[in-house]
Amino acid sequence: MAFTIKWFDTIDSTNSEALRQFKDSDDFTVFASNYQTSGRGQKGTSWESASGKNLTFSIVLKYSNLKVENQFVISKIIALGIKRYLKSRSIDAKIKWPNDIYVNDNKICGILIENHLLGDILSGSIAGIGLNVNQDVFSSDAPNPVSMKNILNREMVLEEELEALAGHIHDLYYSYFSYLSSSTENRLDGEYRESLYRLEELHSYEETPGGELIRARILGIASDASLILEKEDGSTKMYQFKEIRYIL
Ligand code: BTN
Repeated sequence: MAFTIKWFDTIDSTNSEALRQFKDSDDFTVFASNYQTSGRGQKGTSWESASGKNLTFSIVLKYSNLKVENQFVISKIIALGIKRYLKSRSIDAKIKWPNDIYVNDNKICGILIENHLLGDILSGSIAGIGLNVNQDVFSSDAPNPVSMKNILNREMVLEEELEALAGHIHDLYYSYFSYLSSSTENRLDGEYRESLYRLEELHSYEETPGGELIRARILGIASDASLILEKEDGSTKMYQFKEIRYIL
């Protein structure tokens, strides 16, 4: 597999290290660390991971021609790459739109994508991934974590799992950029929709801000990456990332 992995024992955050080395890095360079002292999560949260137990890594992605309005494709590629990797390890995972990977109602993996913009052209991204692998017990505030070990009852070798996981993402990423065509994108969209956590099931959500509780079904993802919900009364509505909260 033609990509470089740079391992660190301890680092503040692999996303921060990837950003520091962005300019001098080739496309698809991977920065991984056994331990992060300031791991970052979505919405300004921190990402906790026991030392040497899990995968915490970031991939430098450099594009020559990706429009800002198409940036969600990167999120799709990363999430589907993780899902395909987990499937190869006999774990059936779902994508909790937009950036979490779930097994049943538990979070096994979080994704933090930070973009580099040059005007309305996306010159690159840093895709940070935290996958729970060998950690048994979680003491942090994360509401519902689960690890591969919790599911498979065995420990995995982190270096091997990183090669395999990054390999799945790598293959999807390059197939997308080598044969960029509407049919490739349609296939990705179809696989993404079928992978959605709670697809077509009736569940509770909170509209934010406002706090109204609704019961609704996920119908899919719109072309602007918003989530399409069908409410109990049959009406449909689209939600941006910060406009809806899943009630678990
Ligand atoms: C989330 O679910 O809140 C996103 C978590 C992303 C965590 C990963 S771990 C590797 C990379 N470095 C960071 O500081 N964060 C991401």
